[in-house]
Amino acid sequence: MARTVTVRTLANMKRAGEKIAMLTAYDYPTAKLLSEAGVHVLLVGDSLGMVVQGQPTTVPVTLDHMVYHASLVSRGAEGAMVVADLPFLTYQVSAEEALRSAGRLMQEGGVHGVKLEGGREMAKTVRRLVDAGIPVMGHIGLTPQSVHTFGGFTVQGKTADRALEMMEDALALEEAGAFSIVLEAVPAEVAAEITHRLSIPTIGIGAGPHCDGQVLVFHDFIGYTSGYIPKHNKRYADLASIIRDAARQYIEEVAQGVFPGEEQTVHLQDGELRLFQSMVARHGGGARE
Ligand code: KIV
Repeated sequence: MARTVTVRTLANMKRAGEKIAMLTAYDYPTAKLLSEAGVHVLLVGDSLGMVVQGQPTTVPVTLDHMVYHASLVSRGAEGAMVVADLPFLTYQVSAEEALRSAGRLMQEGGVHGVKLEGGREMAKTVRRLVDAGIPVMGHIGLTPQSVHTFGGFTVQGKTADRALEMMEDALALEEAGAFSIVLEAVPAEVAAEITHRLSIPTIGIGAGPHCDGQVLVFHDFIGYTSGYIPKHNKRYADLASIIRDAARQYIEEVAQGVFPGEEQTVHLQDGELRLFQSMVARHGGGARE
């Protein structure tokens, strides 16, 4: 990536009508490849609980998990902005705790900003973080940490009342100083109106084409998952098949003695080989029991 992406880059992109491409990343090699390809923002999402750890929701993810994965991604990100999720109950209890949690993600995880879920009720916390110099990305609509309150991963803002509330949430987050807002599982018309009203960029996931940018979960995007795939996802590759096919071929080649072949094998040089053979002969003794 030629340029370094910052909050100012993203604001300028919105003004210029240039779309922002964000993907989640959880480790060094993925961060390196995605940033080399030019992805603008790498999100160390707490979705790692589901796609990396095999948990049913994002709720069990801890701050230590997030700091660890953030540090891997930060090391690999070349020019991309790195944002990490504040996990469940590391920012809701008090603004002070949110500050300490975000501080760890920035100091130990090396990220450039944090994301938190919630609308108006989080505005005071967002303001506190922003005042401390921490860029904050909001996240409204389907907020996965509240999955048990929603009763599932369902589309939000489907009634006019809820849609208006969502718009007020977005405006409150902007007013509090958020630099961007993720809109997840929101009807396209609602996302379009919010995007139009805000001066900060919106990043959609299952929110239609009118947001200022889009985000996908890396494992869903690359076809690295074999279970449930959300309706909003588009698979850009089928990594699961590639991995399965490679593993089957490997098993077969090991079984047949085809791997390792001559190319993967190291030999003793002639002189050393002759010496070794004579030493073995002098050494005597049989094979160990
Ligand atoms: O955790 C995550 O990956 C996210 C995206 C779905 C926006 O929050």
